[in-house]
Amino acid sequence: MNPGALLDTLKRRTGFTEAHVEVLVGLGGYMAPLASEVALAFYDYLGRDAEMREILWGVPGRVERLYGSFAAWYRELFSGVYDADYAHRRYRIGLIHARLGVTPSHMVPAMGIVQELSLEHMRTALRSAEIFPAVEAFEKIIAIEIALIEESYLAALEAGFRLGVSSSSREALSRGASVLLQEAQA
Ligand code: HEM
Repeated sequence: MNPGALLDTLKRRTGFTEAHVEVLVGLGGYMAPLASEVALAFYDYLGRDAEMREILWGVPGRVERLYGSFAAWYRELFSGVYDADYAHRRYRIGLIHARLGVTPSHMVPAMGIVQELSLEHMRTALRSAEIFPAVEAFEKIIAIEIALIEESYLAALEAGFRLGVSSSSREALSRGASVLLQEAQA
Protein backbone atom coordinates (compact mmCIF):
# COMPACT_ATOMS: atom_id res chain seq x y z
CA MET A 1 0.00 0.00 0.00
CA ASN A 2 1.36 3.36 -1.03
CA PRO A 3 -0.48 6.10 0.91
CA GLY A 4 0.72 8.84 -1.48
CA ALA A 5 -0.72 7.07 -4.52
CA LEU A 6 -3.87 6.28 -2.56
CA LEU A 7 -4.25 9.98 -1.73
CA ASP A 8 -4.07 10.88 -5.44
CA THR A 9 -6.83 8.37 -6.16
CA LEU A 10 -8.94 9.73 -3.31
CA LYS A 11 -8.54 13.32 -4.50
CA ARG A 12 -9.76 12.26 -7.93
CA ARG A 13 -12.66 10.22 -6.54
CA THR A 14 -13.86 12.99 -4.22
CA GLY A 15 -13.28 15.73 -6.83
CA PHE A 16 -10.88 17.51 -4.48
CA THR A 17 -9.31 20.42 -6.39
CA GLU A 18 -7.07 23.43 -5.75
CA ALA A 19 -10.25 25.46 -5.21
CA HIS A 20 -11.10 23.22 -2.24
CA VAL A 21 -7.56 23.60 -0.91
CA GLU A 22 -7.98 27.39 -0.96
CA VAL A 23 -11.31 27.18 0.83
CA LEU A 24 -9.82 24.93 3.53
CA VAL A 25 -6.91 27.30 4.10
CA GLY A 26 -9.33 30.24 4.44
CA LEU A 27 -11.52 28.20 6.77
CA GLY A 28 -8.43 27.37 8.84
CA GLY A 29 -8.32 31.03 9.88
CA TYR A 30 -11.53 30.41 11.85
CA MET A 31 -11.17 26.73 12.72
CA ALA A 32 -7.50 26.18 13.62
CA PRO A 33 -7.68 28.49 16.69
CA LEU A 34 -10.60 26.36 17.90
CA ALA A 35 -8.63 23.08 17.70
CA SER A 36 -8.14 22.73 21.47
CA GLU A 37 -11.81 23.48 22.10
CA VAL A 38 -12.84 20.86 19.50
CA ALA A 39 -10.43 18.37 21.14
CA LEU A 40 -12.06 18.89 24.56
CA ALA A 41 -15.56 18.38 23.16
CA PHE A 42 -14.39 15.39 21.11
CA TYR A 43 -12.96 13.46 24.09
CA ASP A 44 -15.93 14.48 26.20
CA TYR A 45 -18.11 12.73 23.61
CA LEU A 46 -15.87 9.64 23.39
CA GLY A 47 -15.81 9.37 27.18
CA ARG A 48 -19.58 8.89 27.30
CA ASP A 49 -19.11 5.43 25.75
CA ALA A 50 -17.96 2.86 28.34
CA GLU A 51 -15.70 0.96 25.93
CA MET A 52 -14.01 4.07 24.60
CA ARG A 53 -13.70 5.57 28.09
CA GLU A 54 -11.81 2.45 29.17
CA ILE A 55 -9.44 2.70 26.18
CA LEU A 56 -8.81 6.40 26.77
CA TRP A 57 -8.82 6.77 30.54
CA GLY A 58 -7.58 3.22 31.37
CA VAL A 59 -3.97 4.35 30.87
CA PRO A 60 -2.88 7.24 33.14
CA GLY A 61 -1.94 10.40 31.26
CA ARG A 62 -3.13 9.06 27.92
CA VAL A 63 -6.11 11.30 27.28
CA GLU A 64 -4.20 14.39 28.43
CA ARG A 65 -1.54 13.57 25.80
CA LEU A 66 -4.25 13.03 23.22
CA TYR A 67 -5.73 16.52 23.56
CA GLY A 68 -2.56 17.87 21.97
CA SER A 69 -2.24 15.10 19.33
CA PHE A 70 -5.84 15.53 18.26
CA ALA A 71 -5.57 19.34 18.11
CA ALA A 72 -2.47 19.03 15.87
CA TRP A 73 -4.35 16.56 13.64
CA TYR A 74 -7.29 18.96 13.46
CA ARG A 75 -5.14 21.98 12.53
CA GLU A 76 -3.55 19.95 9.74
CA LEU A 77 -6.95 19.51 8.12
CA PHE A 78 -6.65 23.19 7.16
CA SER A 79 -2.91 23.36 6.44
CA GLY A 80 -3.38 23.45 2.66
CA VAL A 81 -0.66 20.83 2.15
CA TYR A 82 -2.17 17.47 1.22
CA ASP A 83 0.78 15.58 -0.19
CA ALA A 84 2.43 12.16 0.17
CA ASP A 85 3.81 13.04 3.63
CA TYR A 86 0.34 14.05 4.76
CA ALA A 87 -1.03 10.73 3.45
CA HIS A 88 1.71 8.78 5.28
CA ARG A 89 1.01 10.59 8.56
CA ARG A 90 -2.74 9.96 8.34
CA TYR A 91 -2.23 6.34 7.30
CA ARG A 92 0.11 5.83 10.26
CA ILE A 93 -2.49 7.30 12.63
CA GLY A 94 -4.90 4.66 11.27
CA LEU A 95 -2.37 1.91 12.03
CA ILE A 96 -1.81 3.25 15.57
CA HIS A 97 -5.54 2.93 16.25
CA ALA A 98 -5.73 -0.50 14.60
CA ARG A 99 -2.89 -1.71 16.85
CA LEU A 100 -4.79 -0.45 19.92
CA GLY A 101 -7.96 -2.31 18.97
CA VAL A 102 -9.87 0.87 18.05
CA THR A 103 -12.19 -0.48 15.35
CA PRO A 104 -14.25 1.19 12.57
CA SER A 105 -17.29 1.11 14.87
CA HIS A 106 -15.37 3.48 17.18
CA MET A 107 -13.62 5.44 14.46
CA VAL A 108 -16.40 6.23 11.99
CA PRO A 109 -18.86 7.70 14.55
CA ALA A 110 -15.94 9.65 16.06
CA MET A 111 -15.26 11.16 12.65
CA GLY A 112 -18.97 12.05 12.53
CA ILE A 113 -18.51 13.98 15.77
CA VAL A 114 -15.56 15.87 14.29
CA GLN A 115 -17.89 16.87 11.48
CA GLU A 116 -20.73 17.85 13.80
CA LEU A 117 -18.51 20.01 16.03
CA SER A 118 -16.93 21.66 13.01
CA LEU A 119 -20.21 22.37 11.24
CA GLU A 120 -21.52 24.00 14.38
CA HIS A 121 -18.52 26.37 14.43
CA MET A 122 -18.88 27.09 10.71
CA ARG A 123 -22.53 27.95 11.18
CA THR A 124 -21.67 30.60 13.75
CA ALA A 125 -18.42 31.92 12.20
CA LEU A 126 -19.24 32.14 8.48
CA ARG A 127 -21.55 34.31 6.40
CA SER A 128 -24.35 32.30 4.80
CA ALA A 129 -22.83 32.46 1.27
CA GLU A 130 -19.57 31.04 2.63
CA ILE A 131 -21.14 28.03 4.29
CA PHE A 132 -21.81 25.80 1.28
CA PRO A 133 -18.27 25.97 -0.23
CA ALA A 134 -16.79 25.49 3.24
CA VAL A 135 -18.92 22.43 3.97
CA GLU A 136 -18.18 20.99 0.53
CA ALA A 137 -14.39 21.30 0.96
CA PHE A 138 -14.53 20.06 4.55
CA GLU A 139 -16.63 17.00 3.67
CA LYS A 140 -14.16 16.08 0.94
CA ILE A 141 -11.13 16.20 3.21
CA ILE A 142 -12.99 14.19 5.85
CA ALA A 143 -13.97 11.56 3.25
CA ILE A 144 -10.28 11.36 2.31
CA GLU A 145 -9.30 11.01 5.99
CA ILE A 146 -11.80 8.21 6.57
CA ALA A 147 -10.67 6.35 3.45
CA LEU A 148 -6.97 6.60 4.42
CA ILE A 149 -7.74 5.19 7.86
CA GLU A 150 -9.97 2.43 6.50
CA GLU A 151 -7.34 1.41 3.93
CA SER A 152 -4.71 1.27 6.68
CA TYR A 153 -7.03 -1.10 8.56
CA LEU A 154 -7.34 -3.35 5.50
CA ALA A 155 -3.57 -3.42 5.10
CA ALA A 156 -3.18 -4.26 8.81
CA LEU A 157 -5.72 -7.05 8.55
CA GLU A 158 -3.97 -8.53 5.52
CA ALA A 159 -0.62 -8.35 7.34
CA GLY A 160 -2.21 -10.10 10.33
CA PHE A 161 -3.52 -12.88 8.14
CA ARG A 162 -0.09 -13.24 6.51
CA LEU A 163 1.33 -13.76 10.02
CA GLY A 164 -1.08 -16.68 10.34
CA VAL A 165 -3.30 -15.05 12.98
CA SER A 166 -6.62 -16.79 12.56
CA SER A 167 -8.09 -16.60 16.10
CA SER A 168 -10.07 -13.40 15.39
CA SER A 169 -10.12 -10.55 12.92
CA ARG A 170 -9.47 -8.06 15.77
CA GLU A 171 -6.35 -9.96 16.78
CA ALA A 172 -5.21 -10.10 13.14
CA LEU A 173 -5.88 -6.35 12.81
CA SER A 174 -3.89 -5.46 15.90
CA ARG A 175 -0.94 -7.81 15.26
CA GLY A 176 -0.81 -6.84 11.58
CA ALA A 177 -0.81 -3.12 12.45
CA SER A 178 2.05 -3.71 14.90
CA VAL A 179 4.15 -5.32 12.18
CA LEU A 180 3.41 -2.58 9.64
CA LEU A 181 4.33 0.13 12.17
CA GLN A 182 7.60 -1.65 12.98
CA GLU A 183 8.40 -2.03 9.28
CA ALA A 184 7.72 1.68 8.71
CA GLN A 185 10.19 2.58 11.50
CA ALA A 186 12.96 0.27 10.27
C1 HEM B 1 -11.70 11.19 14.32
C2 HEM B 1 -11.20 10.18 14.94
C3 HEM B 1 -9.86 10.22 15.64
C4 HEM B 1 -8.77 11.02 15.43
C5 HEM B 1 -8.61 12.12 14.40
C6 HEM B 1 -7.75 10.61 16.37
C7 HEM B 1 -6.49 11.18 16.44
C8 HEM B 1 -5.44 10.61 17.12
C9 HEM B 1 -4.06 11.02 17.01
C10 HEM B 1 -3.54 12.14 16.14
C11 HEM B 1 -3.32 10.20 17.82
C12 HEM B 1 -1.79 10.25 18.06
C13 HEM B 1 -1.11 9.27 17.13
C14 HEM B 1 0.41 9.29 17.33
O1 HEM B 1 0.88 8.82 18.37
O2 HEM B 1 1.10 9.75 16.41
C15 HEM B 1 -4.23 9.27 18.43
C16 HEM B 1 -3.88 8.28 19.31
C17 HEM B 1 -4.80 7.55 20.03
N1 HEM B 1 -6.17 7.53 19.87
FE1 HEM B 1 -7.21 8.55 18.51
N2 HEM B 1 -8.24 9.60 17.14
C18 HEM B 1 -9.52 9.34 16.74
C19 HEM B 1 -10.38 8.42 17.27
C20 HEM B 1 -10.12 7.65 18.38
C21 HEM B 1 -11.06 6.79 19.02
C22 HEM B 1 -12.51 6.56 18.58
C23 HEM B 1 -10.41 6.20 20.05
C24 HEM B 1 -10.98 5.19 21.00
C25 HEM B 1 -11.31 5.33 22.13
C26 HEM B 1 -9.04 6.72 20.06
C27 HEM B 1 -8.05 6.38 20.95
C28 HEM B 1 -6.71 6.69 20.81
C29 HEM B 1 -5.64 6.16 21.65
C30 HEM B 1 -5.82 5.20 22.80
C31 HEM B 1 -4.43 6.68 21.15
C32 HEM B 1 -3.01 6.40 21.66
C33 HEM B 1 -2.69 7.32 22.81
C34 HEM B 1 -1.32 7.08 23.37
O3 HEM B 1 -0.35 7.63 22.82
O4 HEM B 1 -1.24 6.37 24.34
N3 HEM B 1 -8.92 7.60 19.02
N4 HEM B 1 -5.52 9.55 18.01
